[in-house]
Amino acid sequence: MKALICDAHGDPGKLRVGETETPVPGPGEVLIAVEATAVSFVDMLMVADKHQVHHPVPFIPGMEVAGTVVSTGPDVTHLPEGTRVGALLKDGGHAQFALAKAYETFPIPDEVSAAGAASVVLCGLTAELALTEHARLSAGERLLVGGASGAVGQCAVQLGRAMGARVQAAVSDRSRSDAVLAGGADEVLVYEDLAGMERSERPRCDVVIDPVGGPFGELAIDMMDWSGRYVIVGFAGGKAPPIKGAHLLIKNRSVHGMVLGHYRWNRPDLLAASARRLFSAVAEGQLAIPHDITKDLASIPEAIDGIRNRSLAHRVVVTP
Ligand SMILES: NC(=O)c1ccc[n+]([C@@H]2O[C@H](COP(=O)([O-])OP(=O)(O)OC[C@H]3O[C@@H](n4cnc5c(N)ncnc54)[C@H](OP(=O)(O)O)[C@@H]3O)[C@@H](O)[C@H]2O)c1
Repeated sequence: MKALICDAHGDPGKLRVGETETPVPGPGEVLIAVEATAVSFVDMLMVADKHQVHHPVPFIPGMEVAGTVVSTGPDVTHLPEGTRVGALLKDGGHAQFALAKAYETFPIPDEVSAAGAASVVLCGLTAELALTEHARLSAGERLLVGGASGAVGQCAVQLGRAMGARVQAAVSDRSRSDAVLAGGADEVLVYEDLAGMERSERPRCDVVIDPVGGPFGELAIDMMDWSGRYVIVGFAGGKAPPIKGAHLLIKNRSVHGMVLGHYRWNRPDLLAASARRLFSAVAEGQLAIPHDITKDLASIPEAIDGIRNRSLAHRVVVTP
C-alpha cells in the first residue's frame, strides 16, 4: 500500500511517500480502507517527537481517518466488512489502509461523507467530551472558546452552539473573525483586546474550553462567573495557564484536565457514546469543519508546516 512514512523525527519536509506492507488486523482490530485522512496539530507533534505518546521511527503519521472496514480480527463481530466508519488511531492514518482498535472505530451515518467524518474525529471527540463530560454545558450558558479558529476550537464553537449556549469565540487576530462567526459564534473576542480591557469590562462566562493556554488561559479563568467550569484541552500557545486555588474557591469555580487518551484506554463506552452524538451532529448539519481535499499524500508535509507556522487557512483532508 501507499503511505506517508516518517523515517526520522524532526523536519516534516523529510516525510516521504513510499510502498509498505498492508497491515493485518489482530485480535480487537479492524483494517480500514482509508477514504479520507485528516492532517492535524498532533501530526506536527508526533513528527517532531513532541507528542505525549512516543512514536518510534519508522512510522506513518495520521490519527483520524474515515473509510470502510475491509477485514477484522477474529474476535471483532460488531463491525462487519463493508461498515463505513470513522476511527481514532495511535498513528498510521496517512496511508491507503490503516489498522484501528475496534473500540476506537465508530460507524458513520450514510449521509456523512468520508472527508466530513475524518475532519472531525479527533478534534470533534475532544470538543464533544470536553463540553459534555467535563463542562456539563447547559442551554443558555455562556461558553468561551479559546483557539476558536483551530480544529478543536471550531468544533467547540459549533457543538456549543448546537447545545444552546451563547458562544464567545476568542481568536488571536480579527482576520479569524469571519470563520468563527460562520461557525455560529455570537461574539468574537481578540486576545489582545481582552488583555487591554479593564477587568470589569471583560465579558463573563460559565464555561471555558481552552486548547491554547498561555495568557489567554490566565484571562479566561478570571472571566468565569460563579460555578464556572474551565476545561484545559491543550497548550497550542506553548504554556499551561497558572491556576490559583484561591481564584477557584472564591467563586465555586472548577478546573478540569481533559485528554482523549483517558477515554480511549479507560472509558471506551463514553467515547463510543460521544462518537454517536458527534456523527449525528455532522449528519444533522450542526457540525462541519471547512477543509480542503487533495488526493496526494505528498501534500501532507506542507500542511503540517502550515499548522506549525499557523498559516493554514483550512484543515487538509487527503483521499489517498
Ligand atoms: N486534550 C486532547 O485530547 C486533545 C486532542 C486534540 C488536540 N489537542 C490539543 O489542542 C490544541 C489545539 O489543537 P487543534 O487541533 O485545534 O490545532 P489547530 O487546528 O492547529 O489550531 C491551533 C489553534 O491554536 C492557536 N494557536 C497556535 N499557536 C498559538 C499561540 N502561540 N498563541 C495563541 N494561539 C495559538 C491557533 O490560533 P491561530 O488561528 O491564531 O493560529 C489555533 O486557533 C493542541 O495543543 C492539541 O495538542 C488536545
